[in-house]
Amino acid sequence: MAWLTQELNRHIYAYHVQDAPTIPDAEYDRMFGELQQLEAAHPDAVSVDSPTFRVGAAPLPEFKQVTHSVPMLSLNNAFADEDIDNFDRRVREGLGAEEALYCAELKFDGLAISLRYEHGVFVQAGTRGDGATGEDVTANIRTIRAIPLRLHGDKVPAVLEVRGEVLMFKADFNRLNERQREAGQKEYANPRNAAAGSLRQLDSRITSSRKLSFFAYGVGALEGAPMPLSHSGLLDWYQALGLPVCKERGTFTGAQQLLAFYRDIGKRRASLPYDIDGVVYKVDRLEDQQQLGFVSRAPRFAIAHKFPAEEALTKVLDIEVQVGRTGAITPVARLETVFVGGVNVNNATLHNEGEVRRKDVRIGDTVIVRRAGDVIPEVVGPVLERRPLDAREFAMPAVCPVCGSPIVRPEDEAVARCSGGWTHCGAQKKGGLMHFVSRRAIDVEGLGDQLIEQLVDKNMIHTAADLYKLDKAKLLSLDRMAEKSAQNVLDALEKSRDTTLTRFIYSLGIRNAGEGTSKALAAHFGNLPALLHAATWEGGIQLLEVPDIGPVVARSIHEFLTDPDNLALVNELATMLRWQDGAHVMTAAGGGLSGKTFVLTGTLPTMGRDDAGALIEALGGKVSGSVSKKTSYVVAGADAGSKLAKAQELGITILDEAGLLALLESVKSQESAADEAS
Ligand code: IVH
Repeated sequence: MAWLTQELNRHIYAYHVQDAPTIPDAEYDRMFGELQQLEAAHPDAVSVDSPTFRVGAAPLPEFKQVTHSVPMLSLNNAFADEDIDNFDRRVREGLGAEEALYCAELKFDGLAISLRYEHGVFVQAGTRGDGATGEDVTANIRTIRAIPLRLHGDKVPAVLEVRGEVLMFKADFNRLNERQREAGQKEYANPRNAAAGSLRQLDSRITSSRKLSFFAYGVGALEGAPMPLSHSGLLDWYQALGLPVCKERGTFTGAQQLLAFYRDIGKRRASLPYDIDGVVYKVDRLEDQQQLGFVSRAPRFAIAHKFPAEEALTKVLDIEVQVGRTGAITPVARLETVFVGGVNVNNATLHNEGEVRRKDVRIGDTVIVRRAGDVIPEVVGPVLERRPLDAREFAMPAVCPVCGSPIVRPEDEAVARCSGGWTHCGAQKKGGLMHFVSRRAIDVEGLGDQLIEQLVDKNMIHTAADLYKLDKAKLLSLDRMAEKSAQNVLDALEKSRDTTLTRFIYSLGIRNAGEGTSKALAAHFGNLPALLHAATWEGGIQLLEVPDIGPVVARSIHEFLTDPDNLALVNELATMLRWQDGAHVMTAAGGGLSGKTFVLTGTLPTMGRDDAGALIEALGGKVSGSVSKKTSYVVAGADAGSKLAKAQELGITILDEAGLLALLESVKSQESAADEAS
């Protein structure tokens, strides 16, 4: 039992403190189960640091009080650079020194906690409370795997009170909220609230199921061991004792170095795995700290340099909708301007109708707005106590605010869409064009959003193909467009004609078909006609043969490419572009269909069989009356009989009318592209 306890604790430490797992989870679970069994059989021999305590214990009736033998204080805050100059000056004056040495570290956004170890064994944990007394959360803290139940090493102090911060990593927070959502329970607004809510559970089994973490940054009582000489020395000692301390720290002299640390951490704030709300500078030598002492409840030797808050409160003035490039209707909260995350924010996305309901955001509400890093601002949720009586619920409009077409939402989808399509809806047209010219798509350098807006608003372009019909006279008629910039646009357009099939597919802005999908399609089919054929035939079922393409993506591609406007545009564009990745060209002498034999059967929806045959022959194909192994395609309409059955038996490609037209179109366009290129 002693061996299992020791081994399991070693693995817990490696996993939760060092981020370096030593054994597979399954092996850990097996050893854990074995220890549990042994402990049940020999309850007298259970070790005080057994990892089985981490799973939580029976609920408490209430939290007891703990009295802190050394009070838990707070820090003064600084925001501006000059606050730091002043802090450094006061410290130097207080010490009568030219220069002061500081330890700088992170200000964790969690809850302060004091852990008491006696002879190396964890015995008690208390929250800060009013600084003098807090709540006894020992059972809950025991479940935090980053906190050692026994300190490492043989030279442990008789008494050690470790001060630090309990917090929840962002990833664990997101997973928790996902679980809460699935269970129909309340979600937490941010990791700090989630950490607080998880720690204040009377049932420590619940705490155990929430992944909390801990970083040590201070010391309370210490008996039976010398106090380290410096704060940085304290943190190093903690590390040796097996306590988690933050790696992002350093020692510095002078305000300039402190500010450089602040800026460096500020840049990396968003990519840290946990929330911080600033950095903390502490005079490093503990003797100097003592000399400086405290003013009221905060030390003179330390200061918190805060970042601009990532969350703020403001009012929802209205909820409007925006129309995206695929017609997606996004509700957007219009907000009373608020300074958050370092910028003024007026709007925040609400993503979709379901999200508005789930978050229960209403017009007139006071809401928490969050902007973390460069992430777009979002509404976290309303402050219900401040909801006015006349708060109004959001109603999804029936028609598109841009083009007036009906807004539709398929039952199995979260997102409502404008049914106008890019041909009718100016917002979709503009969005589609902006996507088409963007850097990762067809890449027309210098053709910005405002130019697209103007070109569409002045009815100078309707489709991406129209871009290639612009001339200098047309461009010069635009606002703020001089000779030179007009020429630049034309040059960039010309340059963009040399492109790849991948870029072209991506540039179409097909819903659910991002860059990865476009690349997979281009690699699989190699040329546009083959793609068009696969996408148009039988609901696009052949697309499922492409690695990583599933039914949802296949369906969007099929729907996009069977729309006549889209198909016409694709074919027109194909004549204007020059493939640079070998994705050409199905021409052979005598026409793109030479050597191919077609059999027509059944009634086609719009064409007579003779017409269809003429089109095939015009491109060099042959039409035959009977199906054999040599048949290339069978074109089948309604009530097709034995010929269709035979084709199926022989595994011959079967086209419907749309499939045939798509094939013909793409062969034609490839021919003219080839002509133009030569
Ligand atoms: S030192 C006597 N260091 O900020 C000074 N506090 O306003 C004791 N905090 O209650 C605090 N990170 O919850 C210190 N690296 C850090 C910290 C930190 C976060 C919190 C802590 C404290 C509050 C002070």
